[in-house]
Amino acid sequence: MKAVFFERPGGLEVLRYGDFDDPIPNEGEALVRVKAGGLNRLDIWLREDRDNIRNIPMPHIPGSDVSGTVEKIVGQAGFRIGQDVVLNPAIPCGLCPRCKKGQPCELVKIFGVKNQGGYAEYVVAPIAQLYPKPPHLSFIEAAAFPLTMLTAWHMLAGRAHVQPGETVFIWGASGGLGSAAIPVARYLGARIIAAAKSEEQARRIRELGVDETVVYTRDDVDQKVKSLTHGQGVDVVFESVGQKTWPTTLAMLRPFGRVVIAGTTTGDVGTQDLSDLYVRQLSMLGARMGTKEEFETVLRLIASGHLKPIIDRTFPLSQAAEAQRRMVDGKHIGKIVLEIP
Ligand SMILES: NC(=O)c1ccc[n+]([C@@H]2O[C@H](COP(=O)([O-])OP(=O)(O)OC[C@H]3O[C@@H](n4cnc5c(N)ncnc54)[C@H](OP(=O)(O)O)[C@@H]3O)[C@@H](O)[C@H]2O)c1
Ligand SMILES: [Zn+2]
Repeated sequence: MKAVFFERPGGLEVLRYGDFDDPIPNEGEALVRVKAGGLNRLDIWLREDRDNIRNIPMPHIPGSDVSGTVEKIVGQAGFRIGQDVVLNPAIPCGLCPRCKKGQPCELVKIFGVKNQGGYAEYVVAPIAQLYPKPPHLSFIEAAAFPLTMLTAWHMLAGRAHVQPGETVFIWGASGGLGSAAIPVARYLGARIIAAAKSEEQARRIRELGVDETVVYTRDDVDQKVKSLTHGQGVDVVFESVGQKTWPTTLAMLRPFGRVVIAGTTTGDVGTQDLSDLYVRQLSMLGARMGTKEEFETVLRLIASGHLKPIIDRTFPLSQAAEAQRRMVDGKHIGKIVLEIP
């Protein structure tokens, strides 16, 4: 099959488009003919071997978001050959104490890290991770929501319990994860303030359903947020930028505010005044993808049209390096998706 892979960590130049052995499904797995694959920042972390901790199989095919068609099934499954499917990329370990009690896994794994991912004509996936693709959804849309919309839902609904009328501040609203938070926060009935890096980006983000924007490269974000919230601050901050934004994140929270964090794009180190935490009674919530039940909720809301992924643009599989370059350069608004004809 054709695939995009790298044999050693490095820059965009290590990504190769070429022939790769066809994957073979084992018991409990399906072979899926990939039609579209979403890009995630994770694909870049893996290629660069950020933090040198992933220990991934080499050569490695990245890609956590997959939609496609069932080609072969080994074992019992409620699918037929030729059925259109979408993959839930959050794979529970099945072994931890929480899994054994039927609770959300404490060590949930991401599809495309320890196994070969979706930048390819075929993937092998556990049958339990596959769901019928909602018929009105294109393959591109179906590959644009799983990882990010699941995570955004888990962050805002599952962890921060956002209530109607609350104000949510979204960092990185142009990114894959942040853009997924826009429809989720809207669905939950929140007022949304979002960060943008330019006036032009702010205008486009407002068109996507954000109520107010702050240009973080120009404005004093904390001051602007305070003036937009009658001096109160926001109820919830949606964080994935990390080190660069953390001090402002804490400053803009109102008393009893919550920050929910799923990533550290600009670095891991954040400091805070501990007395501030208890005096203002703030909550810090970590989030990592979401549960099976949350994926099913998101899929239902996508199928009914209540949630819609924001798509930046598509590239053919052979141009995956160009697609990643667009993400590295920060030119995208929403999800970048690879198409596999
Ligand atoms: N825990 C989980 O389950 C989970 C799931 C998905 C993603 N993540 C993490 O979430 C992060 C985002 O992933 P993604 O796929 O959405 O990446 P992405 O599409 O590249 O988005 C990154 C966003 O960060 C913003 N940003 C970068 N530097 C910034 C700065 N100095 N100040 C303010 N904003 C800044 C960018 O905005 P501008 O370009 O406009 O500045 C962009 O919107 C990554 O760290 C990823 O690992 C975690
Ligand atoms: Zn587990």
